[in-house]
Amino acid sequence: MSQPDYPRIVTAPPGPLGKAIMDKDAQYSSTSYIKEYPLVVSHGRGAMLEDVDGNRFIDFMAGIAVSATGYAHPTVVEAVREAAGKFFSMCGTDFYYPSMSALCERLALSAPGDSKKRVFLSNSGTEAVEGAIKLVRNSTRRTDLIAFKGAFHGRSYGAMSLTCSKVKQRASFGPMLPGVHHVSFPDPYRTLTDGRSVTETVIGEIETLFLQKVSPDDVAAIFIEPLLGEGGYIIPPADFMPALRALCTKHGILLVCDEIQCGVGRSGKMWACEHWDVEPDVLLTAKGLGSGMPIGAIIAKESVMKWPAGSHGSTFGGSPVCCAAALATLDIVENELLTNINNVGERLIAGVRRLQEKHAVIGDVRGLGLFIGVEFVEDRATKKPAKALVGDLEQIALQRGLLLLGCGQSVLRIAPPLVLSDYDVDKGLEILDACLTELT
Ligand SMILES: Cc1ncc(COP(=O)(O)O)c(C=O)c1O
Repeated sequence: MSQPDYPRIVTAPPGPLGKAIMDKDAQYSSTSYIKEYPLVVSHGRGAMLEDVDGNRFIDFMAGIAVSATGYAHPTVVEAVREAAGKFFSMCGTDFYYPSMSALCERLALSAPGDSKKRVFLSNSGTEAVEGAIKLVRNSTRRTDLIAFKGAFHGRSYGAMSLTCSKVKQRASFGPMLPGVHHVSFPDPYRTLTDGRSVTETVIGEIETLFLQKVSPDDVAAIFIEPLLGEGGYIIPPADFMPALRALCTKHGILLVCDEIQCGVGRSGKMWACEHWDVEPDVLLTAKGLGSGMPIGAIIAKESVMKWPAGSHGSTFGGSPVCCAAALATLDIVENELLTNINNVGERLIAGVRRLQEKHAVIGDVRGLGLFIGVEFVEDRATKKPAKALVGDLEQIALQRGLLLLGCGQSVLRIAPPLVLSDYDVDKGLEILDACLTELT
């Protein structure tokens, strides 16, 4: 087999065509956009992205964990093309079409656990979270919500009120939704314990909250990312999610798992909750679900999703073109990619662990499937975060043909398209190694 034709840098990014687009963007686009680095995309194929100047990159970030089946997967492209040739939209809140009913059925049957499920389709992650807040209040007739420090659930008001990741995401936008309480996320690398396990420490913190601040009888739901995304790509200890499930059940609190970033196969199982045999009351998905087409879902136990007709809806949510993309994506991930995700993920984690032996700045490496966090520290003993490093790494990796993205305080999140190959892993690690050598 011939060698892939990437990575390839023909002109230091941004090249002249990219620069022209960036200049226009700087004049007219919202000042709130971050624009991590000067990547100006033209098109992609598999886990390779090409910019408008002809540079080709290996993608280790998938547009923030979105492009599940890679770029331009022929089956997804064909499904979208076929659906777009029929009709774009027919408000699924009010009318019927086959792909919407098929996707609701598919997601209801795919979600973990034996209980019968029902599904509401949204346009985005934050909209799924927003709907879930309404749903859990409607179902329990309780008001309060618990979420985790480090969590990112979105940017609309309810979701932003649950978010507790970076202060700039909340500053100047208050007041937030009342009745939201934040507790520590179980971080095996950083949680300070006094002889207890990480799980006992965090469950203890929630129990203390129940003693001091809020009665569990007033709590409608606990929202958790079972694998913490934006907050630092953290994998909780194996006993944590079962313990949280038990705590929720004991108090009649609903467990909402936000798998918007870690679901749809990324963790090596279709849903991250499956790693611990936990059945959430509500499961949220978006990002990878449509391979990049805007679609999300609230998947809830039938006993929970009983809100009356007209109490929640959406004009565009679950549009036929997005449903077609999601159905094709679920087929591909379930039938073709789960083995690859596990094999390539193991290769990638093992490779980063080898880099950890060489580069003292790597404090911790953790991951499940293709959800991998690499935490950088100034000193392994003090674990002081090496805050500037990830930003510098992103910039110089771009110049060498590798797309990276940070999260948390000093963590590199590796969340590539799920079609990543052994070649992509080995080449990407080679570039990462060279970048770390240059930087440290
Ligand atoms: C776990 C999680 N929940 C919710 C969201 C919000 O999704 P969206 O940006 O589609 O609104 C994100 C986005 O990064 C996320 O990672």
